[in-house]
Amino acid sequence: MSGPGPGFEYIQELQGRAIPRASDGSRTPGWDQPADLTKDPAEIPDPAVIHVAPALRDEIEAAMARYPDRRSAALPALKAAQRFHGWCSPQAILEAACVMRVTPGYLTAVATFYDMFELEPKGRHSVYVCTNISCSLRGADALYEEIAAAAGEDGEINVRHFECLGACDIAPMVSVDNVYYGPLGKGDAKRLVEDLRAGREPLPELRLALRRTAASELPAEHEQ
Ligand code: FES
Repeated sequence: MSGPGPGFEYIQELQGRAIPRASDGSRTPGWDQPADLTKDPAEIPDPAVIHVAPALRDEIEAAMARYPDRRSAALPALKAAQRFHGWCSPQAILEAACVMRVTPGYLTAVATFYDMFELEPKGRHSVYVCTNISCSLRGADALYEEIAAAAGEDGEINVRHFECLGACDIAPMVSVDNVYYGPLGKGDAKRLVEDLRAGREPLPELRLALRRTAASELPAEHEQ
């Protein structure tokens, strides 16, 4: 297990107290309980009482080290906290704020501004259907309805609209757990959901990363 990062000692020194943690380094009891941010979101969390998993702390500290002002690491810190907790829960925000030495209110303002942060618990899979202009012209609205209907409402697959995801050349396209697929055609909505439920990669032949590029189609004499 990786040990606490350099900020850990700093915070200990700052507080003059040890951060409570089980002897085996595991999370302290109550780590997953919702944080009561109504108390004072304008107060920097006390690291003596907020336990942050070492892996999450290390990732946030590494992000902070990349900027002259630690507050600039708000986005990667929130992203790490969201990945660790599954969503940007009040507890996730509290922990990120604790490591960054900023207020939960500051990080909440950032998280509520950007669309990619989930402020409600979400399903095991995230399917973002781009319904912006290029995708819409190629049937994205109907595609969204088909995927949403196939996913149902058991909460396992979180389906939502999204603005342009920057992959208009494969319209209509979707982002599934942060991986791009497209263009989707007839029958792909149902197959996408079936693949996810079966634990398979969805629509592998449509994964953007596996598409041939223009460069790969140039005759050999054009190669540098
Ligand atoms: S409009 Fe859908 S990716 Fe750009």
